[in-house]
Amino acid sequence: MSNTITLNDGNKIPAIGFGVFLIPNDGPTYEATLEALKAGYRHIDTAAAYMNESDVGKAVRASGLKREEVFITSKLWLQDFGYEAAKKAIDTSLKNLGMEYMDMYLLHQPYFDVGGAWKALEEAKKSGKIKSIGVSNMTPKKWQEFVPHFETLPAVNQVECNPFFQQRELRNILDPLNVKIEAWYPLGHGNADLLNHPAIVSLAKKYGKNAGQIILRFEVQDGLITLPKSTNPTRIKGNLEIFDFELTAEEMQTLRGLDTDKGSHDPDAPGVGEHLLSAYKIHD
Ligand code: A2P
Repeated sequence: MSNTITLNDGNKIPAIGFGVFLIPNDGPTYEATLEALKAGYRHIDTAAAYMNESDVGKAVRASGLKREEVFITSKLWLQDFGYEAAKKAIDTSLKNLGMEYMDMYLLHQPYFDVGGAWKALEEAKKSGKIKSIGVSNMTPKKWQEFVPHFETLPAVNQVECNPFFQQRELRNILDPLNVKIEAWYPLGHGNADLLNHPAIVSLAKKYGKNAGQIILRFEVQDGLITLPKSTNPTRIKGNLEIFDFELTAEEMQTLRGLDTDKGSHDPDAPGVGEHLLSAYKIHD
């Protein structure tokens, strides 16, 4: 199994990415990203709403890596949904990152003028400002509501996904279209019931890995792109070390059986878009 996945637009993405959600700008994101790049990550996941794109850009430049060696994702925030606002926001993200292009840009949330925002992403892809475009937090319901009206099929849908919440219904829709899922909270956000689950602990013993590595291996082997979060340098590095063993078909089936089909966030709940918009203001 390769550590790189080919998307439906032909571009390649590293299967494991380093997420910088909730890491402050002006230092901490710079340091965390630089550490991650030194540890071997080649895929960084930020967003306009994380307010730390500029530190990500600085870290990539400081790493000594060539721009094309690192896959950079950012996301359009809800305040900028709408065609004209999104066009401006794409340029703001590029300016904050200090980059000429982004490898991936996502609609961060599926509310309000999704169609207008998507059109701006499609144009930016055509003009080379963005290589791949995708969506995020789209449930089957949101996907069916919006995506049939898009001209371009999204390359990914970034959603909450882990062994307790495997998104099987969504995957049944996306798999035939070759749209990849990117998993946020891939370790259940540190859920002790998941990390200490006997099925996972016993596989960790068998393969000489930790519980997180077993979960990440399961996810990547099951076709996902995964974005684990850690502030511990040993685990940050270790979370990349999942390509030197393989779970058997039977073990994959056992782990598929852990699905409870429940996550921490329901994008279909009433008022979620309004709540997010008022909770996160990234500009006037
Ligand atoms: P830490 O930062 O101390 O490593 P998620 O990516 O699902 O949001 O989960 C993040 C949580 O999982 C954090 O609490 C993180 O703690 C923990 N974590 C990260 N990597 C591992 C791992 N390999 N094994 C166990 N826990 C991990």
